[in-house]
Amino acid sequence: MSKMWAGRFSQASDALLEEFNASIKFDKRLYKEDIAGSIAHSAMLASCGIISQAEAASMKAGLEQILGEIERGEFSFLIADEDIHMAVEKRLGQIVGVDIAGRLHTARSRNDQVALDFRLYTQKSNLSIRGRLYTLIHTLFEIAREHTLSLMPGFTHLQHAQPVSLAYHLCAYIFMFMRDFDRLKSSYDRANLCPLGSAALAGTPHPIDRAQTAAALGFSAPTFNAMDSVSDRDFALEMLFNIATIFTHTSRLCEEIVLWCSSEFGFMKLSDKFSTGSSIMPQKKNPDVAELIRGKTGRVYGNLIALLTTLKSLPLAYNKDMQEDKEGLFDSVDTALISLEILAKMLKSSSFDKGAMMNACKKGHLSATDLADYLVKSCGVPFRQAHHITGRAVALAESLGKDLSELSKTELSSVDEVLNSDEALSALSLAASMQARRSYGGTSETSVQSQLDMISAWLDTNFSLS
Ligand code: ARG
Repeated sequence: MSKMWAGRFSQASDALLEEFNASIKFDKRLYKEDIAGSIAHSAMLASCGIISQAEAASMKAGLEQILGEIERGEFSFLIADEDIHMAVEKRLGQIVGVDIAGRLHTARSRNDQVALDFRLYTQKSNLSIRGRLYTLIHTLFEIAREHTLSLMPGFTHLQHAQPVSLAYHLCAYIFMFMRDFDRLKSSYDRANLCPLGSAALAGTPHPIDRAQTAAALGFSAPTFNAMDSVSDRDFALEMLFNIATIFTHTSRLCEEIVLWCSSEFGFMKLSDKFSTGSSIMPQKKNPDVAELIRGKTGRVYGNLIALLTTLKSLPLAYNKDMQEDKEGLFDSVDTALISLEILAKMLKSSSFDKGAMMNACKKGHLSATDLADYLVKSCGVPFRQAHHITGRAVALAESLGKDLSELSKTELSSVDEVLNSDEALSALSLAASMQARRSYGGTSETSVQSQLDMISAWLDTNFSLS
């Protein structure tokens, strides 16, 4: 079959070349964007008097017919057509005749066409991922609201450090995901410029109206430099980076879910709907979903590095290397969409064991700092001495096989006369320790309530953007 570009060729392509060169296997995913771009382009050509209104109308009808054929699964995608752009144009020729279809590519090149299709697809995916992130944030918010008084150990170095509420811990993730959402939004706004009409690399001598196509396709304006528009893909890099960062966050959450579901922690229980069994050990209930999301982080990081590397050192303007931009982005988008959706559903259907979290707080003398602070603040004891007295109280608790928070008033006062008071005893309370951290951004119930209020306002504001 003769290629659209074969005018100057006297030999047919080798089959291996066709196989190697074609992108249709994966860029057929861009059919909607390709057809929308062609409809906008033909309408603009007509309103600028470059083709007739009748020609534009028959192009539009033909392109809409192709859209229907693809959606009904009636369209044959052939390797010989190379890519989605030529496949659609060839089919248009069969429907409306080559005399009309042949005018569609006036003032356009596949270089701006692919830059447009890929950008439109990236923008659409940006919105879908934001929708999934929004649901995840909302789900975490609903869980957090229920747990402002549920104590769990806060960790540093994976060692028990200070008691915090589960709500506080979950709010930390919510703020990460809110930033991920905002980053996607700012990438969207930055990328919302239309490359169509850049042509091959240098613009076109035809009197086109790029602002018209930009508006018709939902962009805020045309891009500013045709060479830049056909040769850069930083909108795709930003998307890949944004997804990679989301996975940095989800992988940390998933790692904690895996830990929290273990018998060592026992903080969390997954529903049967979102856990799996073992083929050999009947008692097992595995957090495969969390592990897979953690594991998929590798491929989304890989996709980012792959495109960065592909684009590095490419001379301007378009180079065929750039055809390699698509599969990694498609993969990262698909991976993000399903991972965010299942993570939210898994969290929604899981439960937390407050008793187990509380018991864990009783390991590690988490209120030791509170006792030392009490001695300094309320008894005027110099910090060094306070540290020493508290150390002796910890040693006593250890010798009794108890946690510091479990010492009785008599036991506590036996350490030092200064500890003989109800206030000293209440300084050992784990709940009091959590509630004492009332500083802005802290873990106390009131501080967390302000964080939840902030999140709630964010959820209201971004409802329509998700
Ligand atoms: N399939 C190509 C790609 O994805 C379309 C652009 C081809 N342009 C060209 N000058 N060969 O990049």
